[in-house]
Amino acid sequence: MSQVEAFSAAEVIAAKRDHHALSDPQIDWIIDAYTRGAVADEQMSALLMAILLNGMDLREISRWTDAMINSGERMNWSALSRPTVDKHSTGGVGDKITLPLAPLVAACGAAVPQLSGRGLGHTGGTLDKLESIPGWRASLTNAEMLKVLQDCGAVICAAGAGLAPADKKLYALRDVTATVEAIPLIASSIMSKKIAEGTDALVLDVKTGGGAFMSDPKKAAELAHVMVGLGKRAGVKTLAIVTAMDVPLGLTAGNALEVRESIEVLAGGGPADIVELTVILAQEMLELAGIKGADPAAALKNGKAMDVWRQMISAQGGDPDAKLPVAKEKLTITAENSGTLLSMDAMKVGLAAWRLGAGRSRQGEAVQAGAGIEIHAKPGEPITAGAPLFTLHTDTPAAFARAQESLTNSVKIGDLPLSGKVDRLPLIIERITD
Ligand code: URA
Repeated sequence: MSQVEAFSAAEVIAAKRDHHALSDPQIDWIIDAYTRGAVADEQMSALLMAILLNGMDLREISRWTDAMINSGERMNWSALSRPTVDKHSTGGVGDKITLPLAPLVAACGAAVPQLSGRGLGHTGGTLDKLESIPGWRASLTNAEMLKVLQDCGAVICAAGAGLAPADKKLYALRDVTATVEAIPLIASSIMSKKIAEGTDALVLDVKTGGGAFMSDPKKAAELAHVMVGLGKRAGVKTLAIVTAMDVPLGLTAGNALEVRESIEVLAGGGPADIVELTVILAQEMLELAGIKGADPAAALKNGKAMDVWRQMISAQGGDPDAKLPVAKEKLTITAENSGTLLSMDAMKVGLAAWRLGAGRSRQGEAVQAGAGIEIHAKPGEPITAGAPLFTLHTDTPAAFARAQESLTNSVKIGDLPLSGKVDRLPLIIERITD
């Protein structure tokens, strides 16, 4: 017998269209009804667009988030002896921070249950990166997840189908209806998954600048405030850091290339910006988890974080000593003139890596493990005409032309301004605790 519905989708859509706040029962119903297929995609699309245009107040966002959490299971890590803490980045180009960060924080005494996603569009996904390690498995059962956490202190794996299923449906719909960029929808999407993940504490890395979802730092800060509020209301100790994504992070964008760079960081080397951000986020996570006296910078240098990495990769079937895949073809792009590298457009670099095969344009598509971009100079550094600027990697050489096209005007080379500094965002822009 079909269920008697408490509302009609049209009346909920009309309420938001006419600038009214949705009631708690309306929100609970629409999320539940959409998840079980009683509200059609075209009806939910109309509501999402009305939310994008007319917004939601904090009560509505909080209820919407709760309804998405309640659409699925909630993980529980109470069997662990260590406090749990996680980090979530809103996504950027060359953002491989999770890879060294999770084992580092585990090496310092916390447990890190990191349920990650795949890349879509110009930003890479943690699971795609780790899958370039031969044998490594992203899908674990809940029991396997707990075992890896107990044995290694950190687990990075795919969020199972049972975690916030409403978000899975909604995210796919937002992606094709130009409704991704609404703060209430981004905040509830991210926080429903993180709260359902069951972590005690959460550090949010909210990216801003040309290569981020929120290119305007003010909007990024607004998103950060909303997410911190949602986390706290759900009893998760939460803080956010707004960080730069005007320039790619580190010197690589692409799956195996980023794993290689992360291993350099775990071996005590690696690019300065990756090391700095990894250590800052680790300090914040450990403090929030209540762990005193840890020294994450030392744990990177003395091999303790590397030991956890190796254990964690092996526990998920990966071979930490295996040779990482390399692309079949390479093409080096050189600087056209001499001077100081004044800027590098993260979005253009991300798009080029994606076109080379590092990302996917449709969910479920395979990515090339070896594809991507190596960056040979960063803003602020001197460069001479003819010196390498980027090396493009791909298995499909036909992709070079389109990647080169997206790199057109991606860098500026010129005289260093009188200030002696190039115009770029500081790595850490703002720390948001409420
Ligand atoms: N990441 C998510 O999980 N959801 C969004 O809406 C945006 C980024």
